[in-house]
This record gives sequence, structure tokens and C-alpha cells, in this order.
Amino acid sequence: MILRFLIGAVVVFPLAIATPASAQEEHAGAEPYRLVCQTCHGEEAKGDVAPPLVGGALDADYVLAIVREGFGQMPPISTRELTDDQVRDIVGYIDWLNERAADPAATSRHR
Ligand code: HEC
Repeated sequence: MILRFLIGAVVVFPLAIATPASAQEEHAGAEPYRLVCQTCHGEEAKGDVAPPLVGGALDADYVLAIVREGFGQMPPISTRELTDDQVRDIVGYIDWLNERAADPAATSRHR
């Protein structure tokens, strides 16, 4: 029993330190953003062939309408590719990027 506990502690303890840190940095919307939006809107929504999405507050319903209907050069994206909840997560991720940019202390904490 004691030996199992010791082995368990040695194996689990470093994982317990490593996991929350990386989980905190990864916003729920980061992965769907990278998979679907990043090719056009650039890394961390800073803009590329499409305009940046950071720098101003985005309304989730407005973004959802644009994603479903398309906007100018932006093609519509179907629910098969991205659920409504994933679009809301992406808006949350962009808000989070804005907050991080507005608070340099938070930026250094996240690095
Ligand atoms: C194929 C390239 C492409 C992809 C993929 C793409 N966009 Fe766009 N998006 C554009 C372009 C180009 C515009 C600018 C359209 C215009 O102004 O005519 C745009 C505009 C927008 C706007 C409006 C910005 C404003 O100033 O009001 C939003 C919001 C937006 N995109 C969100 C997203 C989100 C969220 C995703 C991922 C789910 C995404 N886009 C994926 C190309 C893309």
C-alpha cells in the first residue's frame, strides 16, 4: 500500500503541476478558431488576408450571423463545420485575447 502510494505520488505529482498550467492557457475557443478562422484572420486574430478580429468588442450574435451567412469575401461556414456553441467559444477567445492585450500583467502571467 505504502509503496503504491509512493509510486503514485511520483507519477501523478509532476502531471498535476503540468496539466493545469497548459489547460489555463488554452481557451475553449482557441482550437476551433485555429482550425476554421486562422487561415484568413491570422494567428491570435491579428489579421492576415482577412481583417483582424481583435481590438474591439464583438457581439456573439453578430459574429454568428456573419459566420452562417458570410460577409463580403468571407464564405458562410455551416453547422457541420462549427456548432453555434463553438462560434460563441471563439467570440469568448477573442474577448480573452483583447483582455490580455489590455492588461500587460496578465500577458506576462500567461507566458
Ligand atoms: C476564407 C477566409 C475566411 C475565413 C475562413 C473566415 N473569415 Fe471572417 N472574414 C473574412 C474576410 C475576407 C472578411 C472581411 C469581409 C469584408 O469586409 O468584406 C471577414 C470578416 C469577418 C468579420 C467581420 C469583421 C468586422 O469588421 O465586422 C467577422 C466577425 C469574422 N470575419 C469572423 C470570422 C470567424 C469567427 C471565423 C471562423 C469561424 C471566420 N471569420 C472565418 C474571411 C474569412
